[in-house]
Amino acid sequence: MSVTVWEIDLRCDLSQLAILSARLSPDEMIRAQRFVRERDRHRFTVARGALRTILAGVLGNDDPVCLVFNYGAYGKPSLADSCNPHDLRFNLAHSHDLALLAVTQGQEVGVDVELVRPEVEILALARRFFSLAESQRLAGLPEGERIEAFFDCWARKESYIKARGEGLNLALARFEVGFGRGQPACLKVDHGDPQACGRWHLCHLETRSGYRAALTLDGAMGVLHRAEFNISGN
Ligand SMILES: CC(C)(COP(=O)(O)OP(=O)(O)OC[C@H]1O[C@@H](n2cnc3c(N)ncnc32)[C@H](O)[C@@H]1OP(=O)(O)O)[C@@H](O)C(=O)NCCC(=O)NCCS
Repeated sequence: MSVTVWEIDLRCDLSQLAILSARLSPDEMIRAQRFVRERDRHRFTVARGALRTILAGVLGNDDPVCLVFNYGAYGKPSLADSCNPHDLRFNLAHSHDLALLAVTQGQEVGVDVELVRPEVEILALARRFFSLAESQRLAGLPEGERIEAFFDCWARKESYIKARGEGLNLALARFEVGFGRGQPACLKVDHGDPQACGRWHLCHLETRSGYRAALTLDGAMGVLHRAEFNISGN
């Protein structure tokens, strides 16, 4: 199996925004209008418009608007069977100006991207959200390595939660991931699911400078393809 990860720049001019906005479904347009800040509205519109454009392209469907999404119990979107003859699966993540979209076939997937924000109180957040072992490992790293390690850990944990589609119903402290120099990106243990480490494959994703990202797949990792969304080419 292969997976393609698309990089989507959420900055675009007003004419591009209008093109992508016209590809949203009525419920997505309503959702876009609910954002208080214009910047958030634009980012949502570009990400959803790009998502529809890319999926329609992969499906060989020339009308992105007609794609229908279903939503899982905790909000994970998926393509409705009626427009998904090849069992495509996908997951989208956005942070600041960047979105990543992972697309696979027949294999559940989760992706996360985080803008590295040096001002964040990482040790306090780690104590609150990470497992005890993760939080202690982070505190034990040299100070200069901690910020990237924190965002690596966060992105890896989120990608796993997103692959499973369970949202924050799955306690972040229930499982542990590898992070920091000398530890590969992987799922180390899931105390709520003893079979998980043999099933879910977690990996680090290289992405734009200043961001950290991770991908989790249900099953083995095949070839990883990278692509960039360019509105004029789509
Ligand atoms: C909703 C959640 C799945 C991800 O939220 P997030 O990190 O704010 O947002 P991301 O950009 O990574 O992902 C959002 C996208 O994932 C998809 N998504 C929504 N619910 C999902 C779910 N249950 N599972 C997988 N994907 C989901 C959607 O496409 C959504 O984008 P859209 O609605 O704009 O189309 C959830 O895990 C969450 O709220 N996480 C925050 C956890 C946190 O506070 N962590 C602290 C440090 S570890």
